[in-house]
Amino acid sequence: MNRQVIVILHSPKLTCQSDRCHKLEAFAAVPTTATTTTTDIAWRSLLSRCRRRFKQTANDQRQQKQQQHRRDETSETSLVAVVRYLIPCSLAAKRLHPAADTPLNLGAERKLILRNTRISRHHMAPEIALHLITQECSIYHQPIGEDFCFRTEPFWGFFWPGGQALTRFILDNKQLFAGKRVLDVGCGCGASAIAARLIGANAATANDIDPTALQAALLNAELNSVDLEISSRNLIGQPCDDFDVVLIGDLFYDAEIASVLSPWLAQLAAKRKNIYIGDPGRHGLTEKRLWNMTQLARYRLPPDVCIENNGFSHASVWEFKSNS
Ligand SMILES: C[S@@+](CC[C@H](N)C(=O)[O-])C[C@H]1O[C@@H](n2cnc3c(N)ncnc32)[C@H](O)[C@@H]1O
Repeated sequence: MNRQVIVILHSPKLTCQSDRCHKLEAFAAVPTTATTTTTDIAWRSLLSRCRRRFKQTANDQRQQKQQQHRRDETSETSLVAVVRYLIPCSLAAKRLHPAADTPLNLGAERKLILRNTRISRHHMAPEIALHLITQECSIYHQPIGEDFCFRTEPFWGFFWPGGQALTRFILDNKQLFAGKRVLDVGCGCGASAIAARLIGANAATANDIDPTALQAALLNAELNSVDLEISSRNLIGQPCDDFDVVLIGDLFYDAEIASVLSPWLAQLAAKRKNIYIGDPGRHGLTEKRLWNMTQLARYRLPPDVCIENNGFSHASVWEFKSNS
C-alpha cells in the first residue's frame, strides 16, 4: 500500500497518562490521493485519542499547577505575599522591629529607600516617576521578619490600584484640583499628592502614619520637581479645616478602617469638602457605603497590576456625596 503513517510521540507513555507527559507531537504524512482504509481509520482514531488524552493531561497539569501556586502563595512570607494578602489585617503598617517607635534617622531611611527601590513609570500615571519596590528589587522577594531592612511593612513601595486610578483621574481633571489645598490621606508613595501639585493645586499635604512613607513621598516629590507638605498624624476624625479637597487612595482595605473612614468622610462632605476615593473594589467599600458615593471614572488596570493585586481588573474613582 502506498501509504506512510508516522506517529512521533515524545512521551514516556503512548497513552499519555504519565505526569511527565509534557510533549506529544503526532503527525502523519498521508498522500492526498490515499483513499480511506481500515488502517487509516485506526490510525486517525489513535491520533485523536492521543490528542484528547494530551489535552486532558495538559488541563490536569495546569489545574494542579494553579492549585500548587495558590498554596505556595498563601504559605510564603515574602514581601510581595504580605502585601497581597496581609494588607487587610491592620490599620497601619505593622511594626516589624522594637525600634519602630523610636525617631527615624531621616538620612539613613532615605538611603535605605533609594537602595531598595527602582525608579518606575510603569503604572497608570507614567507622567510621574516613582521610587517603587519592583520585581527587580531583591526585597520584593525577601521574607519579611526581624531582619527585614525596613522597620515597618513598606506599603509606600507599591503604587496601589486605587491610588493609580485616583492619580490618573487627577491628571485628567485639572479643573477639580487646580488652585485647591489638597490632603492625600494614607498617601503611601505620595503619587496622588504629587499629581495634584503637578496640575496646579495650591498646596498638597501627603499624610501617612508610617513615617517612612512620608520620606518616600518626599523623595518622589523631588524626583518630579514639586514640593509637598507632610503630616504623620492620624487625621481620621479630625476637622481638616485647612483643606478643600481630600484624597483617599486604596484605603478602604478592610471593614475596620472603613468603619472609621466613612463617618469621618461624611462629616467632611457636610462641610463641603470635595472627597475623591480611588478603589479597585476592596472589602470596606460595601454596597451600602457606595450609596453615599458617585462614580466619576472607571479604569481597566494594566495586566501586571491585576496579577500583583489578587485579580482586581478595574479601579474606580468615586466622589463622596454630602447628605445635607
Ligand atoms: C494600601 S496603601 C495605599 C497607598 C497609596 N494611597 C496608594 O494608593 O498607592 C495604604 C496606606 O495607608 C496608610 N495608612 C493606614 N492607616 C492610616 C491612617 N489612619 N492615616 C494615614 N495613613 C494611614 C498606610 O501606612 C499605607 O501607606
